[in-house]
Amino acid sequence: MIREIVVLPDEGLRQQTAEINEITSETLDLLDDLYDTMISGDGVGIAAPQIGAYVKIAIVQLDDSELLELINPKIILATGSDVFVEGCLSIPNVYGTVRRNEKIVVNYLDREGTQCQMIADEYLARVIQHEIDHLNGILFIDKMIAEIPENELEAYYEEHDYE
Ligand code: CO
Repeated sequence: MIREIVVLPDEGLRQQTAEINEITSETLDLLDDLYDTMISGDGVGIAAPQIGAYVKIAIVQLDDSELLELINPKIILATGSDVFVEGCLSIPNVYGTVRRNEKIVVNYLDREGTQCQMIADEYLARVIQHEIDHLNGILFIDKMIAEIPENELEAYYEEHDYE
């Protein structure tokens, strides 16, 4: 089900979130709602607080990759750094550059409750870091180096090609 996306200045985006202790049918419904809402918003990732659920769940799906469902995600290793432009479904029409780690190792549970570990780099690593920040009430504008006007985005992408 597509849920309403919480946008700034809603205080909910600043809330801390609770760990998932047990995966229930509500957890699975939340994962499904996050997916429907992300797709309807044409996003590459979304975190539970963005639909008003204050638990540690986020999903990520880049155009060319499979859906990642992250329950209680935790970055256990992070290296390198790079700068690239970001946006957010909860902050419409704002885009700007953010420095992130280039490569991360993430521990998380999948929807079956299996403990998983993944290595991500480049754009995927960036999106995962953005979504995990949401679970701690942190938004990309908190880390923004420079805002990029919407009409300059295309030129930015042409000059700064991610893999
Ligand atoms: Co966001």
